[in-house]
Amino acid sequence: MNTMEKPHVAADPAKNQAMVRAVGVRKSYGSNEVLKGIDLEVQPGEVVCLIGASGSGKSTFLRCINHLEKINGGRLWIEDQMVGYTVKGHKLHEKTHAEICRERANTGMVFQHFNLFPHLTVIENLLLAPKMALGQSPEQSRPRAISLLEQVGLADKVNAYPRHLSGGQQQRVAIARALCMQPKLMLFDEPTSALDPELVGDVLAVMRQLAASGMTMIVVTHEMGFARDVADRVVFMHGGRIIEQGPPSEVLGNPQHERTRAFLASVR
Ligand SMILES: Nc1ncnc2c1ncn2[C@@H]1O[C@H](COP(=O)(O)OP(=O)(O)O)[C@@H](O)[C@H]1O
Ligand SMILES: [Mg+2]
Repeated sequence: MNTMEKPHVAADPAKNQAMVRAVGVRKSYGSNEVLKGIDLEVQPGEVVCLIGASGSGKSTFLRCINHLEKINGGRLWIEDQMVGYTVKGHKLHEKTHAEICRERANTGMVFQHFNLFPHLTVIENLLLAPKMALGQSPEQSRPRAISLLEQVGLADKVNAYPRHLSGGQQQRVAIARALCMQPKLMLFDEPTSALDPELVGDVLAVMRQLAASGMTMIVVTHEMGFARDVADRVVFMHGGRIIEQGPPSEVLGNPQHERTRAFLASVR
């Protein structure tokens, strides 16, 4: 088991009701510190849109939340579980691979580039993770998978291969695939950035529907219309820090920080 010198162990991880709690999260690649102390709490059912220029650390932060990246400082929890580590004595020990995989199953992640398995059909893409990570037979998870494909408008593509689908359809499959694991939390990293403009709307519609169903979501996006309409809170990152956050009407409508204003001018 790996140990981690930093961050220092808190006296009490203080069980609380937040779905995600980040306290002073730091992440470096070599000498390049890309997260410089991120504090963020996301409540159950909340939709948080994370905005900011390229290189500001948005993807890195999302990847830290499900321990795809190991943090170098601070602490992260999903509900009452510390992400990636357990406290033993006064040190943090990295959890076992099996524990990390089990916890990761609670968090769905959707990427810019879909990442479907090209050699598997749509339904096979949905059934794979429930089988591998949860030990569910295809018979067990198939009804849920079919229902999810109906919800994302792809009931007629059950047996199609990804290469026969448009980018927008592939992304909706990717969302259904993540939901098939029945996650508590969904992380989206620029889910519409790789799509032709005419395909963006269908994907955003699925995300709106998911938000309305009460899913807790953290969405990195440049779709300011979506952020304005759907986000409970908009968080602006710059240079590895949260510079400004609040309701969309405030952050997008009346930004207080010069950096936020400059960023919004650049994306509009
Ligand atoms: N695996 C990596 N190795 C080294 N540097 C990285 C890695 N991933 C990201 N970075 C650097 O971290 C910074 C933040 O990147 P990222 O989190 O992708 O920003 P964003 O998603 O906001 O565009 C960038 O300077 C990027 O070059
Ligand atoms: Mg990114």
